[in-house]
Amino acid sequence: MPVVRGKNIEVLYSPEVIAARNREMADEIVRGPHKDLLVISILKGSFIFAADLIRAMHAAGLAPEVEFITLSSYGTGTESKGVRITKDIDSDVHGRDVLLIDDILESGRTLRFAKDLLLERGARNVTIAVLLDKREKRRVDLEADYVGFECPDHFVVGYGMDVAYAFRELPFVGVVTGDAQ
Ligand code: IMP
Ligand code: MG
Repeated sequence: MPVVRGKNIEVLYSPEVIAARNREMADEIVRGPHKDLLVISILKGSFIFAADLIRAMHAAGLAPEVEFITLSSYGTGTESKGVRITKDIDSDVHGRDVLLIDDILESGRTLRFAKDLLLERGARNVTIAVLLDKREKRRVDLEADYVGFECPDHFVVGYGMDVAYAFRELPFVGVVTGDAQ
């Protein structure tokens, strides 16, 4: 089991498994709406997934523009109550097909907020790609169009996802299981 920062990390999704799934998702995305396609990566957690998925999309024949938006949740403790924009995109989305990329779909509040925002700004279609879907934690009505993996309700790290800014560099998705001996 990998040890990082003195912690045992159990691997849930290996780099190879993630790469293979990214290629499949890119093949699905080609068959979806992509008129004047704008990809928007939701920072910070999706930066590695987005970097890999857009290259898989290139291999699948797509040539999107790519933007970034930074969103943060506010609320008490771990329960998010609302979402706000920390850093917005620069592009005009009017009449365009938009693909939102995020790491995890959990309560759905983050992606609901982002999708509504872009539709209000006049996007033609807004579709959603997430690496992980924690379906049992959903609190608002929202489904992703492209899902890497249905994920059990563990707190996961790696492949861009963090605990207090740590573990983002791991090439796999894993769970911290405890202190290493
Ligand atoms: P929600 O769908 O608005 O509840 O929030 C999903 C966001 O919460 C994701 O974009 C992640 O940034 C964060 N998140 C949820 N679960 C985890 C986890 O297990 N590890 C790291 N970040 C998580
Ligand atoms: Mg996030």
